[in-house]
Amino acid sequence: MTNQKFRQIAFSVNGRQQTLYIDIRKSLLEVLREDLGLNSVKQGCAVGECGACSVLVDEVLIDSCIFLAIWADKKEVRTVEGEAKDGKLSKVQQAYVDEGAVQCGFCTPGFIMATTSFVEQHQGEKVTRDQIKKAHEGNLCRCTGYQNILNAVEKSTDN
Ligand code: FES
Ligand code: FES
Repeated sequence: MTNQKFRQIAFSVNGRQQTLYIDIRKSLLEVLREDLGLNSVKQGCAVGECGACSVLVDEVLIDSCIFLAIWADKKEVRTVEGEAKDGKLSKVQQAYVDEGAVQCGFCTPGFIMATTSFVEQHQGEKVTRDQIKKAHEGNLCRCTGYQNILNAVEKSTDN
């Protein structure tokens, strides 16, 4: 008899194919952290309010705490662990470093994925501060270092 509470999923995480047998009640956040050790994905509120758990699923920014892992079946997931290439930080990561946009760092991976999504959607465009703020309104920083984060996003969109 098959166990109805468990199911196999196959998905790509940071470009690597993964096949897991998981509890269907698990969130993507739990699977990324507990099954794959991707601890950049942070649990803050756990109810979809703070953005600390933000990742990309098929290039769409989602809160992984309220996204069931089984919904990621056959999809592509990106977390901040996959953003540096050949030991070189992504442009967004480098902009966060350059602008000192990190304090305790708890919100930073989620912010970086939100910024990455924003930058990729607006390549070659001149964006406004209002657009930047709107695109990041789902991400909260409890250290409230928003000014430097906004500067980092602006720097990331420099063409
Ligand atoms: S932990 Fe997911 S939105 Fe806060
Ligand atoms: S840097 Fe501390 S929560 Fe944002």
